[in-house]
Parts: sequence; C-alpha cells; structure tokens
Amino acid sequence: MKKLNILVLGSGGREHTFCWKLAQSKSTNQIFAAPGNAGTARLANNLDIGINDFDALKKAVIENNIDLVLVGPEAPLVNGVHDYFLADIQLKNIPVIGPQKFGATLEGSKEFAKAFMSRHNIPTAQYGSFTPGNIEEGYAFLDQMTAPYVLKADGLAGGKGVLIINDLDIAKKELSNMLLDQKFGKASSKVVIEEFLSGIELSCFVLTDGTNYITFPMAKDYKRIGEGDTGLNTGGMGAVSPVPFADEKFCKAIQETIVKPTINGLKKDKIPYVGFVFIGLIRVGDAPYVIEYNVRMGDPETQVVLPRIKNDLAEMLYYTAIGKLDQVELIIDDKTATTVVAVSGGYPEAYEKEKIIKGLPSSTDSSIFHAGTIIKQGEILTNGGRVLAVTSLADDCKKALLKSYELLNKINFEGMYFRKDIGFDL
Ligand code: AMP
Ligand code: GLY
Repeated sequence: MKKLNILVLGSGGREHTFCWKLAQSKSTNQIFAAPGNAGTARLANNLDIGINDFDALKKAVIENNIDLVLVGPEAPLVNGVHDYFLADIQLKNIPVIGPQKFGATLEGSKEFAKAFMSRHNIPTAQYGSFTPGNIEEGYAFLDQMTAPYVLKADGLAGGKGVLIINDLDIAKKELSNMLLDQKFGKASSKVVIEEFLSGIELSCFVLTDGTNYITFPMAKDYKRIGEGDTGLNTGGMGAVSPVPFADEKFCKAIQETIVKPTINGLKKDKIPYVGFVFIGLIRVGDAPYVIEYNVRMGDPETQVVLPRIKNDLAEMLYYTAIGKLDQVELIIDDKTATTVVAVSGGYPEAYEKEKIIKGLPSSTDSSIFHAGTIIKQGEILTNGGRVLAVTSLADDCKKALLKSYELLNKINFEGMYFRKDIGFDL
C-alpha cells in the first residue's frame, strides 16, 4: 500500500493518541489534525478548522491531498460528515473512518439504540420511551418500577443527559422537566426510562469495516471528578487496560452475546458502518449488559488501548476502509497501561484557561497526551477542562500508575487537579 496522508478530526487526548500511533506507522506519510492541540502540533500539521465545518474540511482535504479521514468525536458523525463526503463528487472516494449518520444514531438516539438491542436480543436494561404526548404513560411506567430510576435524554446532551434518582416524586418531576421544560433542550424532547443495573462498568471497543471486525483490549475509565468515584461526572479522569475482572470467560460472553449480535444486527438492519463501536458495558452477576453505544473511541480509554496495540494503525485503518479487516491480525501487548488525566481547577464546572503548563519533560518513558492545550508565543497553555493525560505501561497496574503519578508530580499549572486513586477498585 502507498503511504497515506491522514487527517484526524478532533482536538482531545484521544486525537493526540491517534496522531502518536499514526506517527509510528510505516504506512503514514503526513498527519493532519483539525483543529488539534499543542500535543498534536508536534506530530501533525494542525489545521484551524472546526469539527463541524464540513465545507472548510473539504477544502483542506483537497488542498493537502488527504487519503483518509479518521473522525475522533461523535458530533461530526451524528451531523453527517461521512454522508457529506459520500455525496460530494470530489470527496466520495476518500475514506472516512466513522459511521454515516444512520449508524451514528446508535449514539445520537438512546431510543434507537435500545430498539436496536431489543430487536437483536442484546442484553440491556428494560426500558420505556416517552414524549410530551404520552408523559402520563411515563409516570405510570415509573410507578411500576423500583428505585433508583434512570432517566435518559434521547439525544446528545454532552454527557449530562442521564439522571439517576432515588425518589419517585422527584423522578416524575424530572421527567416533566425533561419532556415539557426541555431541561436538555431538544435532546430531551424524548426520554428513555430504564431499569437500574447494579454492577461494575467497563468499555469494549470494536473496529469494523461493516462485515469483519476486530475487538480491541477492554478498558475501564473513571468518570467522576472525586476520589472513590464521587462528585460530578466528567469526560473521564483516568483509565486502565486490561480490566482484571474481565477474564477469558467474561470476554467470551461479551463476544457471543454482545459484539457478534451487534455487528450482525447492523448488517441485518442494513445500517452501513465503517468505524469504531464503543460498547459501554456493565457486569451484573456474571453477565455483561450494554449500558450504551458510542460510535467512536473513548476518551481517555484510547490513551490506554492504543499503546497496547502493536499493529500499524494506518495499515489497520486502510484495511478497514477497503473492507478487508479480516486480513489484520491484532497483536496485543500483555503489559498494563494506565492513564491519569490532569484537569483545570473547577472542572467539570466553570474553570479558567490560558494557565502556563510547566515541567513538561522533553523525554520520558511515559506518554503525555494533550487534550485542552494550545501554543501561544512559544508557550504551552491550558485551553480546556481536561488538559492532559499521562499514560504509562508496566508489568502491572500499580507499577504503571506509579510511573504516571511520578511524572504528574513534576508537571504543574495553576489549579491543576488529578485523581490519585485511578484503579483503586481493581
Ligand atoms: P450513558 O450516557 O448511557 O452511558 O449513562 C451514563 C452513566 O449512567 C453510565 O456510565 C452509568 O454509570 C450510568 N447508567 C446509565 N444507565 C444505567 C442503568 N440502566 N443502570 C445503572 N446505571 C446506569
Ligand atoms: N470515556 C467515556 C467516553 O469517551 O465517552
């Protein structure tokens, strides 16, 4: 295969990790990131393009002879970036890794995902779906459930659209807030009410060309801001891979009851799908259940999954694009990868930007993946809530974490915070 010019769409830690892995690939020619961050700037040409500005993207793809586009976040997929390429005479032969709008609905609509799982007998929580027109049925549905009550805005709500409530009256009030008062805007004009599942969560990542697929190593992320999994939800404060409790038997159950029926379900439903499927799982007793689908890689899970994959990523993406993923054999590093995310003070609520990041080493055994960072007048400044993630590989989780923490203790910016207990429950 010829060496590829690859454009990575997005600007987070996930996208820096993609660029880092692509930079090690013998099949990569040039890497571009749109818009990228201070980390991707070292490995790629950052292009000043918003992730949903498809016309600007088209111009850049043509100007820079891009051969393949790898989409990081869900928003452009749900907004139809892949469809935009297919509909354009100049772009239609440039492969996009990431599903078309139809497939992206697995993440863009909770109801669509639940109906998909139900059609294909994929284990998930019992549910009902409600609109302002049948809110009375929603109240009745809540009446016959037991606490806690799980209410989900149907559409994308920036990770905030799920409420877990112990009190029945409050649950009814929130249902009304979501449906009638648009608590999450248009996203909550439909609400899915679910049975509460109790167990430990993990993330499973599958890359598919629509027919063939590869399941990546499992990972677990830590979503809450506070230690011991307390406080507000965030994009993710750390991650580990592999996941000790996901033993061979459990992983086999994931394959048989979830991954296979998901890929086959896409085919049966004639949903074209080229890209990553991120399956959010929960272990209830010995059985895996699906909490949600995402149509992209996880962040910060990518920061621990990709460092464990020994394959050439550009080649893997190319085989995905041409429908020959069956020719790729996944090679996994047995080591444990951990990542710890440093965030701006105040995150996930209001926080300040443009703090100077000091103590970034010029060389290290670990990897520093940038998220909310920017270069201004030669200095690296904070530019977001999640600022960077430090990934380390070692023979076990403890050793890997020690390396990440040692490095994080040398880095600082005003207000910097990170959780000191990543992996605490494993
Ligand atoms: P989601 O956006 O669907 O991933 O939900 C966000 C978080 O809410 C998940 O990561 C879980 O921790 C929790 N959650 C969602 N659905 C359920 C459920 N049915 N039972 C228990 N917890 C849930
Ligand atoms: N870490 C969870 C996510 O990427 O949605």
